[in-house]
Amino acid sequence: MGSFDGVRSVFILTGAGISAESGVETFRDKDGIWSKVRLEDVATPEGFARDPAAVHRFYNARRAALASVRPNPAHHALARLEEALAGRLTLVTQNIDDLHEQAGARDVIHMHGELARSLCGHCGARGDAAGDLSTALVCAACGNAGGLRPDVVWFGEIPYRIEEIAERLVSADLFVSIGTSGAVYPAAGFVAEARSAGIRTLELNLEPSEGSVFFDEARHGPASVLVPAFVAELLASPGLR
Ligand code: NAD
Ligand code: APR
Repeated sequence: MGSFDGVRSVFILTGAGISAESGVETFRDKDGIWSKVRLEDVATPEGFARDPAAVHRFYNARRAALASVRPNPAHHALARLEEALAGRLTLVTQNIDDLHEQAGARDVIHMHGELARSLCGHCGARGDAAGDLSTALVCAACGNAGGLRPDVVWFGEIPYRIEEIAERLVSADLFVSIGTSGAVYPAAGFVAEARSAGIRTLELNLEPSEGSVFFDEARHGPASVLVPAFVAELLASPGLR
């Protein structure tokens, strides 16, 4: 019995760790983002209400930094897997970068939103955030200023497409978590939901995460090495093609 024989559909969750080797900072590693700036100030609705300019500075700097980063072999391997599985892969990311899309992935669920998008706090309209956002900008949909924010889900807010994610999770045969610390819910709870649905679980992470104990199997190392090897192994499984 090959290690992935019988697997027909796959659900993959990615976190900041998959983008680390592309030069995108993670949050809770040594010298991570939350060791340099208080998340209460820049990743909560209260922080935005208190000082919107500071929040815009934080995300404008991260958006500008994305212009010079490129996908790594892990992103490219997942794009290949999506094409090979032809609709039998669900790819959910907590990341707000667009590296999965840059690598060619077409159907990425950004449960925490996207740095390249804006949201109007007044009317709910979403748009492209090509350059810097600021309180001075006027919303093209409602014509009001002062309401534009990054289209990013903050602490205490509800992630996007969470019901769809839950349905797709329980209909998969294999749940794979890549590059996430398992510190933030509801994403951190996906492995327990998969297990209770009798789904096989695999963690690919640089080191053991807070959720490692819940996984049937955990492989530790850099995503740029582990993910291409995992995809090659999976695509070699007879039942999958
Ligand atoms: P949580 O309780 O799952 O957060 C886990 C960790 O985040 C905590 O252990 C702590 O390290 C940190 N954290 C969260 N809120 C904090 C706070 N107010 N002060 C200090 N540390 C805090 O997160 P939550 O507050 O329950 O929020 C969960 C909701 O927020 C979920 O819907 C999640 O998708 C969303 N969220 C979005 C982002 C983002 O930046 N996109 C980040 C985290 C959570
Ligand atoms: N390869 C694989 N895994 C890696 C690599 C790498 N090269 N580098 C780091 N990692 C792992 C770390 O070991 C860690 O477990 O990636 C994980 C990164 O964890 P976090 O920094 O906590 O990022 P993430 O899990 O995505 O955070 C979840 O918290 O603050 C919010 O919105 C933010 O979406 C984010 C959420």
